[in-house]
Amino acid sequence: MARRVRKHANPFNVDVRLERLVQEQLFGKKAALEVDVGCGAGDYILQRAITHPESNFLGFEIRKPLVEAALARARAKGVRNVWYFYANIHDNYDFFPLGEVSRFCIQFPDPCFKKKHWKRRILHPLFVRQMGKLLPIGGEIFAQSDVHPLAEEMYTFLDAECAIKSILPPDLRAPNPFPERTEWERHHETENEPVYRMLFRKITEPSGDIPKIPFRDTNPLRASSPNSEIDRILGPYSHQNNGKDHLI
Ligand SMILES: C[S@@+](CC[C@H](N)C(=O)[O-])C[C@H]1O[C@@H](n2cnc3c(N)ncnc32)[C@H](O)[C@@H]1O
Repeated sequence: MARRVRKHANPFNVDVRLERLVQEQLFGKKAALEVDVGCGAGDYILQRAITHPESNFLGFEIRKPLVEAALARARAKGVRNVWYFYANIHDNYDFFPLGEVSRFCIQFPDPCFKKKHWKRRILHPLFVRQMGKLLPIGGEIFAQSDVHPLAEEMYTFLDAECAIKSILPPDLRAPNPFPERTEWERHHETENEPVYRMLFRKITEPSGDIPKIPFRDTNPLRASSPNSEIDRILGPYSHQNNGKDHLI
């Protein structure tokens, strides 16, 4: 019988602490390492692992059945330079040895529209600081979202960190600089819907206080978006009974 995959999971219910990564043990080689945070079904890094056999790839995901299925799919294809972990990224910053992650990707993170869920959002200033510490100089953070107010929040958090510098235009309208696509990105491409992107590069070590920037209301019902934009955004994010009470 097929296992039910929850549409949304609460990261605070995932209590997994991973032992520090030793790339040689996990992958059989030490190499440039890309991390896809909130990798969903994991196809994006599977594609990248196939086209970049010289590198290593890791996906973090809080929905266990997706992780198990992604690992099984990769091994069935004979791809060994990719691993998936069932873990909340925020409980596992120590998992990564300093300077080994060449790129973090945060793609189409859940917008968590309800105020009581804002703290579940993947990207926030503390995580940006941690990534800033973990990356080597020249390492990158790539992020994209289809929810414009959320993309603006993500850009604000990233741009406030002095260790990293934006290398795509700040209007967030740049095409994807990479050829691979996530499941969500393919969906938006098929529907001809806009996607907002940012790419930051580490230029120096982080210093000073972590910027204090609060989460913002990214709910398009309360933002001044035109109705068509609201319908478009709520489509994939609303539960089956559309309506304010059901927004995640
Ligand atoms: C909207 S999906 C996008 C999946 C994929 N990145 C894509 O673009 O197709 C966001 C994913 O992030 C995962 N997620 C949310 N919070 C997380 C956390 N703290 N650590 C790891 N994964 C998380 C969710 O379970 C969900 O699968």
